[in-house]
Amino acid sequence: MTFRTLTVLATVLLMASLGVGCFDFGDSGTDAQGGLDVPQDGSAVTVLAALHGAYLRHCARCHAPGAPGATSETEKSLDFSTVETTRRTLRGKATGLVGNQQACNGASFLGATWRESLLVAVLDEDLRRTFMAPGYPECNGATGAVSAMETRVGVSMPATFLPDLRAWIDAGAP
Ligand code: HEC
Repeated sequence: MTFRTLTVLATVLLMASLGVGCFDFGDSGTDAQGGLDVPQDGSAVTVLAALHGAYLRHCARCHAPGAPGATSETEKSLDFSTVETTRRTLRGKATGLVGNQQACNGASFLGATWRESLLVAVLDEDLRRTFMAPGYPECNGATGAVSAMETRVGVSMPATFLPDLRAWIDAGAP
């Protein structure tokens, strides 16, 4: 998929999510007009902004500083409050995992391709089955170290979300 196609997809995704008009994390991810938190620097709507608006913003219920749903077991690096915190923290590595998931501490959320990305593994059941985090062989789907997150948000994933997420990662996660 070309980057131009991705940008078009981003716009479509963004429009779809604006249509929903319901924000459950009202103190961030929205601007004064209640619109999506899209960069105000005049740049085109980014693919990540569309992915955040369509789905990832719901993850902030648990993954954000002081998030209402966070517990002592919650992964600690991720912050899905806004598009920019999402962009910044997705470039990092997992921390704070305990118990079964401990093996994933240090693993990158984004790999060179979507198949090497912990972010996709926690959202895509098919990948999860065979997933092994690069450099962290114990962080794999077979041992249960990679949790399912699509079941935690309480909101169904738009059908286009996973294909768009995979394409964004394979385009270098711009
Ligand atoms: C209800 C709270 C909650 C929500 C909502 C939630 N998470 Fe999590 N997340 C956790 C907890 C707790 C853990 C620690 C692992 C576990 O308990 O299974 C975790 C772990 C993770 C991990 C590391 C998983 C591993 O096994 O290495 C990633 C990546 C992650 N979450 C991403 C997400 C994404 C993306 C979303 C949104 C689709 C999301 N989370 C939504 C609570 C949540």
